[in-house]
Amino acid sequence: MRDAAPQTIYLRDYTPFGFEVEEVALTFRLSPTATRVLSQIRFRPRLDGDGRFFLHGEDMTLISAAIDGTPVTPRMVDGGLEADVPTEPFLWESEVEISPATNTALEGLYMSPLARDGAAPDPGAMYCTQCEAEGFRKITYYPDRPDVMSVFTVRIEGDMPVLLSNGNPVEQGDGYAVWHDPWPKPAYLFALVAGDLRAHSGSLTTMSGKSVDLNIWVRPGPDEDKCAFGMEALKRSMKWDEEIYGREYDLDVFNIVAVDDFNMGAMENKGLNIFNSSCVLASPETSTDANFERIEAIIAHEYFHNWTGNRITCRDWFQLCLKEGLTVFRDSQFTADLRSAPVKRITDVIDLRARQFREDNGPLAHPVRPDSFVEINNFYTATVYEKGAELIRMLKTLVGDEAYAKALDLYFMRHDGDAATIEDWLRVFEDVTGRDLTQFKRWYEQAGTPRLEVTDEFNDGTYTLHFKQQTPPTPGQETKDPRVIPIAVGLLNPNGDEIVPTRILEMTEAEQSFSFDGLASRPVASILRDFSAPVILHRETDNAERAFLLAHDTDPFNKWEAGRALAKDVLCRMVSQGAAPDQAYLDAALAVLRDDGLDPAFRALALALPSQEDIGQTLHDAGIVPDPMAIYDARETLAQSFAEQAADTLPRIYAGMAVDGPYRPDAEDAGKRDLGNTALRLLSRLDGGKTATTQYANADNMTQQLGALGALLSIEKGEDQLAAFEAQWDQDRLVMDKWFGMQVAHAHSARAAEIADALTRHPAFEYRNPNRFRATLGALAGNTAGFHAPGGRGYRLLADWLIKLDPLNPQTTARMTTPFETWRRYDADRQALIKAELERIRATPNLSRDVTEMVSRILG
Ligand code: PHE
Ligand code: ZN
Repeated sequence: MRDAAPQTIYLRDYTPFGFEVEEVALTFRLSPTATRVLSQIRFRPRLDGDGRFFLHGEDMTLISAAIDGTPVTPRMVDGGLEADVPTEPFLWESEVEISPATNTALEGLYMSPLARDGAAPDPGAMYCTQCEAEGFRKITYYPDRPDVMSVFTVRIEGDMPVLLSNGNPVEQGDGYAVWHDPWPKPAYLFALVAGDLRAHSGSLTTMSGKSVDLNIWVRPGPDEDKCAFGMEALKRSMKWDEEIYGREYDLDVFNIVAVDDFNMGAMENKGLNIFNSSCVLASPETSTDANFERIEAIIAHEYFHNWTGNRITCRDWFQLCLKEGLTVFRDSQFTADLRSAPVKRITDVIDLRARQFREDNGPLAHPVRPDSFVEINNFYTATVYEKGAELIRMLKTLVGDEAYAKALDLYFMRHDGDAATIEDWLRVFEDVTGRDLTQFKRWYEQAGTPRLEVTDEFNDGTYTLHFKQQTPPTPGQETKDPRVIPIAVGLLNPNGDEIVPTRILEMTEAEQSFSFDGLASRPVASILRDFSAPVILHRETDNAERAFLLAHDTDPFNKWEAGRALAKDVLCRMVSQGAAPDQAYLDAALAVLRDDGLDPAFRALALALPSQEDIGQTLHDAGIVPDPMAIYDARETLAQSFAEQAADTLPRIYAGMAVDGPYRPDAEDAGKRDLGNTALRLLSRLDGGKTATTQYANADNMTQQLGALGALLSIEKGEDQLAAFEAQWDQDRLVMDKWFGMQVAHAHSARAAEIADALTRHPAFEYRNPNRFRATLGALAGNTAGFHAPGGRGYRLLADWLIKLDPLNPQTTARMTTPFETWRRYDADRQALIKAELERIRATPNLSRDVTEMVSRILG
């Protein structure tokens, strides 16, 4: 049942539920369109409660209800039911009927693959659940809120060979299985899977000597051979969390299931993680190096949630960053440890700027801990996740590694079993360090990216940095208070030697200066090392200084940052003043390309030009209306000049990056392939695609196959390879997602919308599958110049498909409205075109609450 007037929910209105849930027993009788769910729940009224007994429930038919064995007729109300209940503990029983086969929203209990429009479900389809944030209320009537925690016993009846739920297996028999999860949990962590599945199994002995069975479950067939990497990643994660955080796993089994239809990446259900198959299945032939790294990180992320999320969960959904920010931070530490820390930091910051800064500086800006929402699904954002992780990183920088470790120990000890808040989290740090974190808390409460301006001065051996901070207004928050900002700074002398190693300047005022004495000559400062705070740094500098830092900075992040700043400055001047490619930049980039002492992965990152989005943000910030076509052209021109000047070097670099031996997805080999592909794209500008054609023909792994295809598509070649790719991979859904995406991502701006449009008519375009939808329409949005090409065809196409998908899957539709969030940056024509599409979407009858909220916020 969808409510007519969407309600805004406020953090300040939090009140606990009036009942404890002592125990939950569920029985599922599975059937595609008529699954029965019987629930028996022991409630105990709380002394401080108001006695109002309300259970959430949506999209289901109530068959019967009873209290202490006596049938009752509850009052059906908006979004659930109410009943008159005893003042003593009582047993609530209900039976409901639900229809997983027609659940295309992929929330609650559903089946995958989805039946085609009007067709019967695939006989091999599996049952699967997704309950975060509020999906459990589509399974049975329940107080579906994270602060209500209970122990669950689940009986599944169905004729599938594999029947899974949370916790430990208790009993298995013909057509049924019983699971018991001893750890109290909120309903959003409930999971059930049933189907004809095969396990890739392993085991691990934990730090206290307990043996845990590990399984990755997939459908029979080729997926069975894509589990080995995920299994090893899982074991690495479990060991790492023991070694670094002292956290041990707490059940006899840990199950992971791969499912093709999933709105997000993966889900941390207790003991039964459910993954979008794209985030767990890997093989060298079908997955790129980037896929391998991402899979490893997501497996770690979901596993780490067992402590940060499950054992300690969130009191309410406003506290989402409590589990997500911390878990993203933990998985970033894991990747940094296993791979290259600088490369991980650089790629994280690229992503932060592309998605979170974009969000924080537009109509969807919201605090890391929001104080209101209409639809919580709309708040699984880069701000909550990635900026949330940045806040943990800053906190660690401010208190130091030792205090951080102590605080985490205390957090786990004090809050194990709790549904906690950001206040609880910060208090742990205050108790351990004696620090007052009132000012730090502003990072959680105030939206927007601080601008940090710095000027410097040198007098009589004293070098002074003057900082000013200022955060622009965001929706609903006109004024901002100064934040505490940890600014990591090191000083180099003019020879390039480091004379003052990294130290943390703690800025707390709106304006503040810091001095360094006893210097022989004016130093060059390396500021905001390792990106010590999520701010936009404005620095009074010139390209000579940037080139100097690119050559000499000992901090790898700032070395890369200097190169990016240089490239960005050059590109912005090309766009806004029609400047020619700058020779100082080209020389510096050439030096990076040729510097064999640098990690290949670092070189690939340093040679990648700032994204169109990055340049657009920068121009907009400087009060210039960005022209996506001009930005595209400037990048092309600069890349072409670079390729020409590097012509002699490129073949050597390309050949030098060849990797011998069997494919290994580790950081070292992946870095070589990355730089190899970078060189290949540049070479293709010179040799008409000759080298890329050869690489495509010889490739025995997806990284090189796709690298070659991309290089060809970017020079408007590759027709034959595209056809060959489709013929080779048409049976592999995940690889075909790449095929859909590549053509659109690499399309020339004038053709991107047309190509995307044609692909939506391809027989394999299953728009209700979120991966396929995102692969195609997400790629269009990611092709900045193509999406914003004059005429608005890209806007119309996206809007058409959002309108089409919304009735089936509001969650994915809502997330896909964000390509429009930057509309006010653009010229009047583009603004009018986008606004018209947003208004057309908003005027669609029966538009979901999810999309209504997003479009309204974007329109402002
Ligand atoms: N909690 C999941 C994660 O971050 C993400 C998720 C949210 C998945 C909502 C599904 C639905 O790991
Ligand atoms: Zn998470």
